[in-house]
Amino acid sequence: MKATKLAAALGLATIATPALAETAPVTATSPDGSVRVALTIDGDGRAAYSVSRSGKVIIAPSKLGFLLTDAPKIDRRLAISGQEVRDFDQTWTQPWGEWEHIRNNYRELKVHLKETTALARIFSVTFRIYDDGVGFRYEFPGQPNMASTNIADELTEFAFAQEGTAWWKPAFLWNREEYLYNKTPLSAVSTAATPTTIKLADGTHVALHEAALVDYSGMAVTRTEGMAFRANLTPGAGEAKVRKSGAWNTPWRTLIIADDAAGIYQSHLMLNLNEPNKLGDISWFKPGKFAGVWWNMIKGEWSWARGPRHGATSENVKRYIDFAAANGIPHVLVEGWNVGWDGDWFGNGHDMDFAQPTEDFDADMLVAYGKKKGVRLIGHHETGGAATHYENQFDKAFRFAADHHYMVVKTGYVTDAGQMEREDPDGRKYREWHEGQWMVNHQLRVVETAAKYRIAIDSHEPVKGTGLHRTYPNWVAREGMRGMEYNAWGGKNPPEHEANVVFTRMLEGPMDFTPGILSLEGERGSAILSTIAKQLALYVVLYSPVQMVADTPENYAKYPGPMKFIRDVPTDWQETRVLNGEIGDYVTIARKERGGEGWYVGAVGDEEARTVSFKLDFLSPGKRYKAEIYRDGDDADYRTEKRHAITIEGKTMTSSDSLTLRIAPGGGFAVRLVPLS
Ligand code: NOJ
Ligand code: CA
Repeated sequence: MKATKLAAALGLATIATPALAETAPVTATSPDGSVRVALTIDGDGRAAYSVSRSGKVIIAPSKLGFLLTDAPKIDRRLAISGQEVRDFDQTWTQPWGEWEHIRNNYRELKVHLKETTALARIFSVTFRIYDDGVGFRYEFPGQPNMASTNIADELTEFAFAQEGTAWWKPAFLWNREEYLYNKTPLSAVSTAATPTTIKLADGTHVALHEAALVDYSGMAVTRTEGMAFRANLTPGAGEAKVRKSGAWNTPWRTLIIADDAAGIYQSHLMLNLNEPNKLGDISWFKPGKFAGVWWNMIKGEWSWARGPRHGATSENVKRYIDFAAANGIPHVLVEGWNVGWDGDWFGNGHDMDFAQPTEDFDADMLVAYGKKKGVRLIGHHETGGAATHYENQFDKAFRFAADHHYMVVKTGYVTDAGQMEREDPDGRKYREWHEGQWMVNHQLRVVETAAKYRIAIDSHEPVKGTGLHRTYPNWVAREGMRGMEYNAWGGKNPPEHEANVVFTRMLEGPMDFTPGILSLEGERGSAILSTIAKQLALYVVLYSPVQMVADTPENYAKYPGPMKFIRDVPTDWQETRVLNGEIGDYVTIARKERGGEGWYVGAVGDEEARTVSFKLDFLSPGKRYKAEIYRDGDDADYRTEKRHAITIEGKTMTSSDSLTLRIAPGGGFAVRLVPLS
């Protein structure tokens, strides 16, 4: 029988079904007992979950379910048909990252549900309960009444039990993820992209997001009333937002819960909810910094297109290779190196050819020159949103990259939201969203293809990060926020931006923010709202295993003192500790380098001056360290010409010392701690 006919028949059947009695809640707690989840069924057979921590309700009973485009919705007339509990505790190793070792310790509660109607559809809700939060997902086994499933929306709710302050970006607007953060009462949020981070009235911090977004569409949340939200899935090109067949599951819906902002950042919940590495040996990928034939284009001085201002000329690239080699920087990104940029490329990538360099970019010569100097090129694949056009040339594009010794390719999808171009093999054309199911799958196809050629991917205008870099560790970075490029243009990032980003976007994983604009100048000499010390701090505070040294060689030549920190700072870490911080105000992060004993500390503030103190108790006891301190000059201020004022000083320190450093308005500081013995 067709699903629609079945639906009509069963509609009658459900009306005739008498109301069910409420069932006793099914509950489980996290390993230390602090986080508790309950699943209840009400008299209508509606399932709801709730979450509490240390006896306080965080999420009040919140409904579960789905709207389907071609079958009755799934949310009433449910009964619990079974439950399973299991414990898990394992430590795994990240090939690169902010922590080398990660403990994955949770209790899993799987609740089996079955409709009491004639359709009798079955599914489970699986909760993984951690001491710092919860992930849960729906799991549907293959079943005759759901051979294919077309999801109109997910009915999952998140009803916060208290008022609070939320830091959030709007979802589904034209500029994708590239919006400033709003700070509003929780009860004033409209439709928010995730991660959304909330400080509840009692001080508890919660971050709402998702993990392991695979073959499904990205989830935003819409406030329904008060402090209650409902999932709002990214649309697809057709009626259904998500199409599934056979057995399937949703991504994990995640709530990180901690006492403070630092606790939110330090959670490993999202990574832990992803599958282990599927690529095996990834040692061919080495974290490192990159220079780029880039900032002058973003500032409008050079063009991506061919012509008199073309940036990707052999001569310019050689100069950047020289600069990189002189500063121990292993890569140079080149944009506009290929045919396809001429004319208006925004939302228009049909001419892009990722194996055809322009006449003035001598790829073979530059690769040979780079090899001599120990510098590789990073390829750039800007699709202008023409995603199928890109897929049609995957093999030739990645073969070209591999043949030219690239380790990393940066991708780009510059077009308005909802304007991604998909063309099916039958010739039909569709417009997709950057975070819709089709693009989620496209991005994974890019990453999987790249892996075959031993290429790592840094995606711009990406799908949000949900921890898939655990499973595909060649997916090394992504953009997905207002990065440094906005400081080249009008409407610059405000001083608080990075202190917002750390506790929101950064929860998604590595971020290609492109720090280090020491000139503090955007287009036509316009002032960036930062100090130099803050630019250095960004190398510690904002994590990516591929970190850009984003200013031009000529500008770096003017700042030899601060440049030393950029040369020294690594991009791969043994351990990370958030020493203090308040969302949108300031944050101090300490990181220990991998394969060495050095520590690096970075702090960024907002528009206010403040003094930050922290203990150095993370250092090895009994060792003496040389602290190289890069701090705002006493009169530094992002609003004046004094934004360039920086003081660089050295001190000897041990693990029993503390440091107290002043952050100027719009400023920050960076400290390198090198063991002396
Ligand atoms: C936007 C990216 O964020 C930027 O890094 C890139 O240079 C341009 N698109 C062109 O692809
Ligand atoms: Ca961008």
